[in-house]
Amino acid sequence: MNEQIVILDFGSQYTQVIARRIRECNVYSTILRYDTPATEISRLNAKGIILSGGPSSVYAPNAPLPDKKIFKLGVPVLGICFGVQLLAHFLGGKVEKGLKREFGKGTLSVKDESSPLFANLPTSLQVWNSHGDKLTRIPTGFKPIAATENSDYAAIEDRKRHFYGLQFHPEVAHTPRGRELISNFVHEICKCGKQWTMKNYVDQAVEEIRQVVGDEKVILGLSGGVDSSVAAALIHKAIGDQLTCIFVNNGLLRANEEAVVQEVFGRNFKVKLQYENAGRPFLSKLKGVTDPERKRKIIGKTFIEVFQHATKKAGKAKFLAQGTLYPDVIESIPIAGNPAAMIKSHHNVGGLPKNMKFKLLEPLKCLFKDEVRLLGVELGLPNEIVYRQPFPGPGLAVRILGEVTPARCAILRNADSIVVEEMKASGLYYKIWQSFAVLLPVRSVGVMGDERTYEYTIAIRAVESQDGMTADWVKLPYELLEKLSNRIINEVKGVNRVCLDISSKPPATIEWE
Ligand code: XMP
Repeated sequence: MNEQIVILDFGSQYTQVIARRIRECNVYSTILRYDTPATEISRLNAKGIILSGGPSSVYAPNAPLPDKKIFKLGVPVLGICFGVQLLAHFLGGKVEKGLKREFGKGTLSVKDESSPLFANLPTSLQVWNSHGDKLTRIPTGFKPIAATENSDYAAIEDRKRHFYGLQFHPEVAHTPRGRELISNFVHEICKCGKQWTMKNYVDQAVEEIRQVVGDEKVILGLSGGVDSSVAAALIHKAIGDQLTCIFVNNGLLRANEEAVVQEVFGRNFKVKLQYENAGRPFLSKLKGVTDPERKRKIIGKTFIEVFQHATKKAGKAKFLAQGTLYPDVIESIPIAGNPAAMIKSHHNVGGLPKNMKFKLLEPLKCLFKDEVRLLGVELGLPNEIVYRQPFPGPGLAVRILGEVTPARCAILRNADSIVVEEMKASGLYYKIWQSFAVLLPVRSVGVMGDERTYEYTIAIRAVESQDGMTADWVKLPYELLEKLSNRIINEVKGVNRVCLDISSKPPATIEWE
């Protein structure tokens, strides 16, 4: 079992960020519910425990509290923000409502340079605060090791018992040297090695997949997206031809997509690839449909039908592989006022029907997206696949407003391939979250040569985002916009106008639908 740090989640919006920062230090981390019993943590052989922040106050009637036996495990503990209040609550300190809410940037002065938490760090650090309550008496056995303008107890330690507390957030980008603080906790204090690498993960996962699958067959729905592609490459490495990948062309793909997937997986990786050319059933069912929800439902239902039929053709398989990621399986904590618990992606829910009698194989389910990309590189997948932008399952249908027809698909496909090409040429494609074309169902008058035209409008959408939950529109350079507009209007038949979407999410969404 990997050495690991357990993070108990008290509902902070940053819990997953803590987990990612630890893994960037090459140490495995697991997020568990705040009330996970100490015996369970001990069974996992945790080398350290982090108590996350959270929106609650320790004095609130329904405050989430950990099993107090975690402090008796002899394992180092780091409390962050609300986590410090917990240390105080359980170990004999005092927390009070701060007179001033400490929120935003602060300067931390290190008072005890000998603390292993501050090893190799300067004595003055920029930090990010976000808390109302503050420590007014530190717990028995602790001493202050750093202060901010507003708090004498910004960092505390009980070096003998290996307990540490930080009132600020070391995990966020606004604490620029926070990574090193976290590294000090996991390496200097918890004494973890650097075993968590994607190179090691490949060996481990290959071994595990072989054990689980034995000589059974596995089926995987390959979409061409990062997750299913990396899952396919990994499983193929483990079991070769026992894996069959089914690639469904729903007629709503981007230009060249089926060629790229067949080239990469079929010809280069020699994966057993079953290509389902199903554009016709999808497009005929979408005929005359304009309501976005109905479009999605039709596409989802048709996909299941096509996929079910394809699995029968592929032969008897025991396992269905999916590229499920860690954030999809972490149990979110239903704490009132915790936005992280309430925001749940509405996409990719539903999935395949229960009556498909497969066992699930999910070899990426303990990985974050950035790790999946590194794993893809490790497995030799091209950048074109590993660093591609997200593309929605219902494909171009969500980017064609109104009715989806073969002619409209062709217009959007042509416009979109110009956007992708120019974004790549400008170097921006791999730097931002998404950039694509949208086909609006309105036509307007234009003039081309001596002729009046009456054609469609293309909107260009380019956004920055961390996870698709919120997004900002990207200020694309004017030269690039000019090129996009010229090329789309000149080269795409059926379009005489291009405009730029300058809305953020919220209140807009990324896709138009
Ligand atoms: P919205 O439009 O809701 O999109 O702001 C957020 C992110 O999700 C992607 N998206 C989808 N992904 N199936 C997917 O796999 C879908 O049905 C779907 N709809 C939207 C979208 O591209 C953006 O990155």
